Parts: sequence; structure tokens; C-alpha cells
Amino acid sequence: MTPDRTTALVTTKDELRARRAAMEGTVGAVLTMGSLHAGHLALVQRARELADHVILTDFVNPLQFGPGEDYQAYPRDLEADLALVDGLVDLVFAPSVEEMYPVLPPTVSVTAGRAGTVLEGAARPGHFDGVVTVVAKLLRLTDPHLSVFGRKDAQQLAIIQRLVADLDLPVRIEPVEIQREETGLARSSRNAYLSEAGREQALALSRTIAAALEAAPSLAAIQEALARARERAEIDWDYALALDPATLEPAGAEHRGEVLVVLAGRVEGTRLLDAAVAVATAP
Ligand code: PAF
Repeated sequence: MTPDRTTALVTTKDELRARRAAMEGTVGAVLTMGSLHAGHLALVQRARELADHVILTDFVNPLQFGPGEDYQAYPRDLEADLALVDGLVDLVFAPSVEEMYPVLPPTVSVTAGRAGTVLEGAARPGHFDGVVTVVAKLLRLTDPHLSVFGRKDAQQLAIIQRLVADLDLPVRIEPVEIQREETGLARSSRNAYLSEAGREQALALSRTIAAALEAAPSLAAIQEALARARERAEIDWDYALALDPATLEPAGAEHRGEVLVVLAGRVEGTRLLDAAVAVATAP
């Protein structure tokens, strides 16, 4: 028996369009691949603060998985997802793969360009192309006034901001701040893999973010703070960089304005990320 729910479940594009057309006021979209957790609820909460209606999409997008990444094994539990957001969002759009992609791979798709091939994209060829293709489709289908994305996936957020700017999509992208534990450690389901000593060691990430933000507004000082953190090698760094958010290239000496500070490294074999936006107004 299907439990009584306030939130509607919609699986076809036609029904989504019909329900979307009936919504009065502003609409916020929260795009997810399901397996919802507290991090997604923070996105939902922000969307609810900003919009009259909230549509959550729940779709495991095959296009963003590489050959070595287990698309089939990705966790899926629509019932649990629906129970978690029941009453918090107006509707959940959970289409099948055939509904989303009548032709797979699609004949025409979107690419993230060079920005999709660096950092997290370096080891995942095609991943960000798959992300921007599905995000473009989902934004088209849900037709929201705004869509919220977490700052923790800093590269994904920056690329989606480019998608919206470069393709003139009529939607506002609202970044949602990283949720942190009291110690400063960015919340992540991966923190569960860390021992007490590992959690202590992982604080090198949030300390480095704090040092970079303190070093602003001098770009050189931000870069020095990151270089010092890498030299200290408290964790096994993959990268600690200050980037131009428009290109995801390292910010050049002349760069002024927002700087995307992105960190990735391993602690006890677990890969952790952190990020922040600093503002550089001086050399
Ligand atoms: O961040 C995610 O969960 C996915 O990459 C997204 C944005 C929902 C696209 O499938």
C-alpha cells in the first residue's frame, strides 16, 4: 500500500509540465541523484526560504558515470527519499532513464569545455559533460526561477554557473554554504570513514580555508597560504588552489574579484574536499 503523502510524485515530463504550469508564484528547483541526506535537506530548506514552491528532481544520471564507475551500483531508494522530503517540497520528479533520454546517448548534448577536464574532471573524463547535459534538461523541464547548489562541489557549481551564463538560461543559481561541524570540518558522508585521529588530521582542510580567507584581499597572500599548507603536508594533498571562477584556471597575478579556493586531499585513504570564495582586491 502506498503511504499517504503531501508531496506529489511525478515520473513523466508531461505531468511535470502540467503541474509546473499550475504553480503560482516563484519556483525553486533542487536537483539531486536521490539517496537524500541532511546535505540535501539543507538545499531544500534554502529553496523553501527563497521560493513559493519547490520541485526536487531525483534522477541517477547515467551520462555522468564513466566506464569504470559503477552506475548500476549507485544507491537508489525512492521510497526513503519521498519519506524524507514529504511535506517539504511540492513535488518530486523521478523519471526513468527512458523518459529522460529517449535516445541514449543523446545525439545533441552540452559540454563543460576545459573547465570539465581539470581538478575533479581530470580523473573522470566526460563526467561534467554529463552533469551539464542533465542539468540543462532538468532546468528546462522544471522551469524554476532559481536552483540551489552546494558550495562543497565547487567545480560543479562553477561549471553550472557557466552553463547558465553561457547558454542564457533564465534561472538564478543560488549557492548554499558548506555545512560544517563545530570543529570546522566540512560535513560529508565520507567523514564516517575517519578515525578520531583522522578527523583531527582532516582539520588541515578547514584551517587552510580559514588561512586563505584571512589572507584576502591580497591574491599573493592567499596563494602563499595555500602553498604553505601543501608544504606542511599534514594530509595527502591532491590540490590546494586559488582559481578564477569563470575559467577554473589558477588565478593570474592580475586577477581581481572573486577567487575560488578549492582543496582536495586524502586522510586515511578517504578523499575529502573543501572550498570557499575569497575576494582579492589587491596583488
Ligand atoms: O550533484 C548531483 O547530485 C548531480 O551531479 C546533479 C547536479 C543532480 C546532476 O545529476
